[in-house]
Amino acid sequence: MAMLLSSSVKSIGFYPPAHQAVKQPLEELAALFEELLLEKNEIYFGIVEDVFFLEDHIFVAPGTGVSELAKRLIQKGIDAVTVVRGVSFDELFHLVSLLARKETNAANLPEKFKSLGIVNIRLGIEQKVSEGDPDLPSLQAYNDALHAVSGVMREIENGRIPGSEKINAVVDDMVSLAIKDHTTLIGLSLIKDYDNYTFNHSVNVGILALSLGVHLGMDPETLRVINTAGLLHDIGKIQIDISLLNKPGKLSALEYEVMKKHSEAGAEMVSKMEGVSRQVIDAVLGHHIKFNRQGYPEWARDRIFGIISDIIAVADCYDAMTTLRSYNVPMSPKVAIDSILRLCGTTLEAGLGQKFVEMMGRYPVGTLVRLDTNEIAVVLKPNCADLEAPVVKVVIDPQGNSLPVPRKENLLRSDGTRYASIVATVDPLLKNIDITACVTR
Ligand SMILES: [Fe+2]
Ligand SMILES: [Fe+2]
Repeated sequence: MAMLLSSSVKSIGFYPPAHQAVKQPLEELAALFEELLLEKNEIYFGIVEDVFFLEDHIFVAPGTGVSELAKRLIQKGIDAVTVVRGVSFDELFHLVSLLARKETNAANLPEKFKSLGIVNIRLGIEQKVSEGDPDLPSLQAYNDALHAVSGVMREIENGRIPGSEKINAVVDDMVSLAIKDHTTLIGLSLIKDYDNYTFNHSVNVGILALSLGVHLGMDPETLRVINTAGLLHDIGKIQIDISLLNKPGKLSALEYEVMKKHSEAGAEMVSKMEGVSRQVIDAVLGHHIKFNRQGYPEWARDRIFGIISDIIAVADCYDAMTTLRSYNVPMSPKVAIDSILRLCGTTLEAGLGQKFVEMMGRYPVGTLVRLDTNEIAVVLKPNCADLEAPVVKVVIDPQGNSLPVPRKENLLRSDGTRYASIVATVDPLLKNIDITACVTR
């Protein structure tokens, strides 16, 4: 839908309204809105912290079309647009025409809607915001964290010592969200971005480690340290050549030696940042040391590393295993959970590994499942009260068709009724499903 919207806006700026290049995407867009608005009253899209979102899907790494649309909305100061059931082709035509025009902005748009008789499109997402969509603040925190990590890395690249204010602010937000409900945050760790691996991986490790800290009942100050350590654990990779970071296949002995330097380099970088605690520096230094001390840096094997370093190691392993890299295909969450259990007592501290597996639940976030409605869904959020009834995103309908926008469903609703039950897990490769795409688009 985002692509259709963006190509409609683009074509309307170049061609007359009757031209096929304008009509075709607009007709497709109108048909799509009609289909989606059969199931819900309104659909909203807009910008959160400079990133385009459609419903609760955030476009972390958008294609050209969507990023052009995002830029246009940012320039016009438009935060969000809501399209209501009953929207007509003409109303959508007016909307894309207005978005294509230079003079349109958030201030004059409501007046233009009024004069053109547009009643089914409005600025903002009043209803959703007032009801408090639980996912929007988390998405914003995720994006803030990406910006903060990339900001720190850019500063280091430019030879400066990064400040810790932005990281601290992000950590404050993340910790308060996690204390409220860490299970929503876990779903965000499904956001994977092949091109910006280190940034996304850092944020994901921060989230998974923080969630494990909450699951262990740790206090807010310790949670802050855990999240900061997760966000900064691979900061030393900034000094490693990108071709080495992305090298397919096995590294040569020499290349591995270079790669191994990132933990001590990172610890040194972090130690220069003002207000970063000793525990964070230790965790950055020790995240590859392994529980059995067979890891690196070799010179630090006899040092005492605390529990935070062990927590980061568990989260780091899990995110790396479930992410596509040039040198490995991602494991499904179920397989990764089994691998975490196998590493307990050797690479990972056994109690923490087991607690992590317990936290992820029977159907770990990102698992593809078949429901008794014959739909296929991705697990988005564990349900501690009922391990059989997580929150899911339905991605394939009972007839086997992919939904253009995946639909979120609570398998166990708040009124106690069931939407559906899980029948089995499904191999994403068999269904040719890209889990990340399902969750982030
Ligand atoms: Fe690392
Ligand atoms: Fe890592």
